[in-house]
Amino acid sequence: MTKITWKPGTILAPVPPALISSGTTDKPNVMTAAWTGIIASEPAMTYVSIRPSRYSHEIISRTKEFVINLPTLALAAATDFCGVKSGRSVDKFKEMKLTPLPCSQIQAPQIAESPVSLECKVKDIQHYGTHDMFVAEIVAVNIDDQYLDEDGRLALEKAGLLAYAHGHYYTLGRQLGKFGFSVEKSRLKMMQKMAEIKVEVKESKKGALKKDEKVMQKAARKFSGKSKFERSRPHTPELKPKKKYGNGRGFKKKSRD
Ligand SMILES: Cc1cc2nc3c(=O)[nH]c(=O)nc-3n(C[C@H](O)[C@H](O)[C@H](O)COP(=O)(O)O)c2cc1C
Repeated sequence: MTKITWKPGTILAPVPPALISSGTTDKPNVMTAAWTGIIASEPAMTYVSIRPSRYSHEIISRTKEFVINLPTLALAAATDFCGVKSGRSVDKFKEMKLTPLPCSQIQAPQIAESPVSLECKVKDIQHYGTHDMFVAEIVAVNIDDQYLDEDGRLALEKAGLLAYAHGHYYTLGRQLGKFGFSVEKSRLKMMQKMAEIKVEVKESKKGALKKDEKVMQKAARKFSGKSKFERSRPHTPELKPKKKYGNGRGFKKKSRD
């Protein structure tokens, strides 16, 4: 594998192509911003970096308020449109049939069609070359209740959220696992541990096993269903002897051309 080094750039991906609404419900504006993110959890702090030339920059500098609306597949065309047209020359809410809804804590409008809208109050403005970074506190979060399941859990996976990576829009793909899944005792991990524990099981006196070892033993019986003799041998795929590649006289690298 070879990596080549490019000059400094902004290829951090994926990022949310967020819809930043500002102004008022009577005179709303919205722009797309990919340079946004979370700064802290408590208090909930965020930022959006906006070029001074944007109409939104003018509005947010004056009102010190904005809303971060998460974009979805249904909002994909609007997300792009709001990123190429300026509110100085076009009413983007009207053109894209977006509905400005009042917020709970600020005058800036949220977008009704977005599943999650974060109400933000600007606390600081930092100037970084091309962009000004509006650091803001998230003072309220508005959730479309159709994404709440019976337990009140926010089922954002149903929203078809958009991601932006290197000039292209995507919808989120497969869900791979929940937070912390890598340290959970998955089936495979359990089987790997079983192989180690078996040695101890043989050497331990009955009743001297720790509680978790007993759990492992129980799981071992459940998973294998084989005879006691077979179970006492390692049988996970990882513990099989590794396949030998090549002719044993060194590994020949596959040619690239
Ligand atoms: C995907 C995407 C991401 C963008 N991200 C930013 C951004 O982070 N900051 C910014 O200043 N402009 C960004 N833009 C450009 C503005 O959205 C665009 O200039 C817009 O027309 C500004 O609207 P306004 O003049 O009504 O504020 C982005 C555009 C697109 C399409």
